[in-house]
Amino acid sequence: MNQHEIDIVKSTAPVLAQYGEQITTCFYRNLFEAHPELLNVFNRTNQRTGRQQTALANTVYAAAQHIDQLHVLVPVVKQIAHKHRSIGVKAEHYPIVGEFLLGAIKEVLGDSATDDILAAWKKAYGDIADIFISVEKEMYEQAEGAKGGWSDYKPFVVAKKVKESSDVYSFYLKPVDQNPLPTFLPGQYVSVRVQVPSEEFMSIRQYSLSDFGDQSYYRITVKREVNVAEGEVSAYLHDHVEVGNEIEMSAPAGDFVLEQSEEHPVVLISGGVGITPTMPMLKKSIEEHRDITFIHAVRTKEQHIFKDELQELFAKYPFSYHVAYSDGDVDADRTYDQKAGRIIRDDLQKWCKNPEASFYICGSPLFMEEMIKSLKAIGVKSESIHFEAFTPKMSVAVT
Ligand code: HEM
Repeated sequence: MNQHEIDIVKSTAPVLAQYGEQITTCFYRNLFEAHPELLNVFNRTNQRTGRQQTALANTVYAAAQHIDQLHVLVPVVKQIAHKHRSIGVKAEHYPIVGEFLLGAIKEVLGDSATDDILAAWKKAYGDIADIFISVEKEMYEQAEGAKGGWSDYKPFVVAKKVKESSDVYSFYLKPVDQNPLPTFLPGQYVSVRVQVPSEEFMSIRQYSLSDFGDQSYYRITVKREVNVAEGEVSAYLHDHVEVGNEIEMSAPAGDFVLEQSEEHPVVLISGGVGITPTMPMLKKSIEEHRDITFIHAVRTKEQHIFKDELQELFAKYPFSYHVAYSDGDVDADRTYDQKAGRIIRDDLQKWCKNPEASFYICGSPLFMEEMIKSLKAIGVKSESIHFEAFTPKMSVAVT
C-alpha cells in the first residue's frame, strides 16, 4: 500500500469503528443471503447473540490501526488462525468475505465511502487476509503432516460415554480409520461437527480435550447449555449421540497450552466445566514433576466433575489441590483442601505461594475476570497469566 492509501485507511478507521457493528451486521446478512453454504461454517448461536459480530469488527479496527506495521498483529492473528484452522476456514473463503465486507462498508457509509476510500480498504483487507492465509496454510500443513494427522474433518466413533454429573457427559472418541492419533498440547481443543436434525445446516463447536496420556482415544467433556439456542449441539450430543455413533472432528488446535519449560511451577485455576483443559495440563505437569497448584471453583459437590479421577491422582502424586464450593456445602469424605464459598483474593494469596509460577485460567468470562484481577492484586505479572475463553476471544478481551 502507498502512503496515501495508508493515510486514508488510518484516518477512516475511527469512522468504521463508529459504524463497526452496523457494518458487520449488514455484512453477515448479505454474506449469508448470497452464500448460505457458509452457514455450515459459522456458529449460528454466535450470530444470533452478536458475539461474532463484535469479534470481527474489533479485529478490523485493530488491523487498520496497524496497517503500516502489520507484523505487530501476528500474535493475535495466530490465535484467531488456530480457530479458523480448527473450524475449516480456507484460503478461498477470504475473497468472498472481503467482497461482502467492502459491500457492507459502502452500503452503511453511503456517499461518504468514496472510491478512494473503498479502494484503500480493499487493499488493506487484502493485506490482512494474506497474513491470515499464510499463517493458516502453515497450520494446515502441520496438522496434516503430524504422525496420524489430518487436515480437515474426519469421522470418529464414540467408544465410551460417561455421565460426569447431571448436566455433563464425557465422550471417548476413536478414529474410524483406526490410524494412530497425533499427540496434542495439553489445553488444546478440537472442533466437533454434527448435523442436528432440527437444523438446516451443519453445526460446529469447540471442546477442549479433557484427558491426556492414552493415545488410543480423545476425550471431550460437554456441558448441556441451558439456553436452547446456545445448547443445540450439547443437547444433541447428550440426548442422541451414543456408543457406536459417529461424529466428525478436526485435529487439535489452540494456543492456550502449557509452556514448554518443564521445570516451571504451574497454577491451574478453573471454574465449573472450565476444568476440562486443565485436566491434561495437570496430567502432563505430573509427568514432568512440576510444582503444581490445582484450584477449582464449582457451585456444588455434585457438579464437581472428575472428582474421583482427581482424588486418585491426588493420592498418588504430590500436588496442592484446593476446591471451593460456592454453595457452601463441602464434601466431608474427601481429603483435599476445601473451601465453603467463592474464591477470593486472600485464598489465592494463601494457595499460590510462588508468584513467579505460570497461571492458567479457564472458566466463564466473569470468573476469569475475577481471578485475573485478584492475581494481579497479589503481585502476579500479566505475562504470567494465560486464559481460555469459551466465547470468541476478542469479545471477552474488550468486555
Ligand atoms: C472467528 C476475525 C476471515 C470464519 C473469528 C474471530 C475473529 C475473526 C476475531 C474470533 C476468534 C475467537 O473466537 O477466538 C477474522 C478476520 C478475517 C476473518 C479479521 C479476515 C481478515 C474469516 C473467513 C471465514 C471466517 C474468510 C470463513 C468464511 C470464522 C468462523 C469463526 C471465526 C467460522 C468462529 C466463530 C463463529 O463461528 O462464530 N474470525 N476472520 N473468518 N471466523 Fe474469522
